[in-house]
Amino acid sequence: MALVPLKRRRRAPSPPAGPLGAGRFPAVVLCLVEKRMGASRRAFLTQLARAKGFRVDGAYSAAVTHVVSEQNSGNEVARWLEQQREECGSGGDPALLDISWFTESMGAGRPVEIESRHRLRVTALAPLRQQMAPYACQRRTPLLHSNQPLTEVLETLAEEASFSGSEGRSLAFTRAASVLKALPGRLSALEELGPLPGIGEHSRRVIQDVLEDGVSVEVERVKLSERYRTMKLFTRIFGVGVRTASRWYQEGLRTLVDLQERNTKLTRQQQAGLRHYEDLNTPVERGEAEFIGQMVQEAVQRFLPGASVTLAGGFRRGKPHGHDIDLLLTHPEAGREAGLLSRVVSWLDSQGLILYQHSQENSFTLHESPEAPGGRDLLDRFERCFSIFRLEVRGGPGAARGWKAVRVDLVVAPVSQFPFALLGWTGSRHFERELRRFAGHERKMVLNSHTLYDTRRNLFLPAASEEEIFQHLGLEYVPPAQRNA
Ligand code: CTP
Ligand code: MN
Ligand code: MN
Repeated sequence: MALVPLKRRRRAPSPPAGPLGAGRFPAVVLCLVEKRMGASRRAFLTQLARAKGFRVDGAYSAAVTHVVSEQNSGNEVARWLEQQREECGSGGDPALLDISWFTESMGAGRPVEIESRHRLRVTALAPLRQQMAPYACQRRTPLLHSNQPLTEVLETLAEEASFSGSEGRSLAFTRAASVLKALPGRLSALEELGPLPGIGEHSRRVIQDVLEDGVSVEVERVKLSERYRTMKLFTRIFGVGVRTASRWYQEGLRTLVDLQERNTKLTRQQQAGLRHYEDLNTPVERGEAEFIGQMVQEAVQRFLPGASVTLAGGFRRGKPHGHDIDLLLTHPEAGREAGLLSRVVSWLDSQGLILYQHSQENSFTLHESPEAPGGRDLLDRFERCFSIFRLEVRGGPGAARGWKAVRVDLVVAPVSQFPFALLGWTGSRHFERELRRFAGHERKMVLNSHTLYDTRRNLFLPAASEEEIFQHLGLEYVPPAQRNA
């Protein structure tokens, strides 16, 4: 925080537009960026250059060939240039140079050749605006991005807010993190963000702290707080949500041992979660996901040849590991999938491959009126099974006993709903939320994992692929690897 009140520096008048003649070097037209250089230094440098026969324009135009700035990042100058181009309504593609080029040229009495050390580094700024469309489902969000340290702190705050039941605040941090994930390069100064959508005051403050000091004191405090740590510990138990964790915290429980010693009442799911706590909090590797996918595929073939098993969730988005394995089952002939799941699960169970499972029947009917957009219904009603598999392992945790517990979600979708199910179960959660928000607010449609409903025309819009769903929504198709919002 600035302790000295910031006085607005009085602006010196802009240097006069100056001789518009060609100067001694007709191929070179300079423009100096005032930001950080200051108005008086800019005026001084302008005079100096003109005295040496350079043409220096006071304002940007398409005629400018060399933009010189001091202590600005490449992206800042590129952004500045973008604004200038918009204001003067013309293009131009000047070189973006550091003051070192200018100084050397003044010393030489002529424009020195531009070397790469003179050039400011710009990390792909052009697509910035286009990528920063307001909804995450209009953007491409790769798995690997350049702003990890920033998104990590914002996501910690999002998590903390959800632990306190502040869903709105949590969403605001999640949105801000999501915008940063879609940036084409590393953010080096807050100003580069410009008026990007979805980044509120609080998020900006945290971003600035991390950019300036490498850490956010606020986030460090959160991470150390007893409540946050306990909530994190408890919500990592399979079957324990924020409400339960919060109640336990209020009752004074702090550790997993406390839960056992105080005979806390646990559901069957939570008991399994506690029993396999360590395994279930060890990331599932892609190889393990593919292996279990194969195993389920084989079981499925036994009972229903022609049925398919698709790996969805984070793995479909290209994540190298995840917290669980999401598998989608379907059959190309409508109706054939009925009854499949219970047979598959019983068989796997009889083979000793299942440590825990609870299944749920399909409760979806098409004739039901779809939920209002923005409704709380993120969950779908497919026939499904939440389970814990017993996976044989040789290395890693569990190597000593020869197996490891792994969370698996099995979901069955009738073929007509399959593209919706696939889209819904591929995530990310934020991407899904944004898709549904976009559908509702921008298109007056209701999207869920079963169907897409047009409320203006009062009809369901069928789709044979994810691409068709994006088409119905008037959205550019976003492939799974770019849905890591
Ligand atoms: N999902 C859902 N209904 C549920 C659980 C999950 O529709 N009851 C959807 C989520 O919206 C998400 C996807 O399934 O889009 C995957 O959820 P999840 O496994 O929780 O997250 P992943 O993105 O797969 O992350 P991870 O790798 O940690 O598993
Ligand atoms: Mn998953
Ligand atoms: Mn899952």
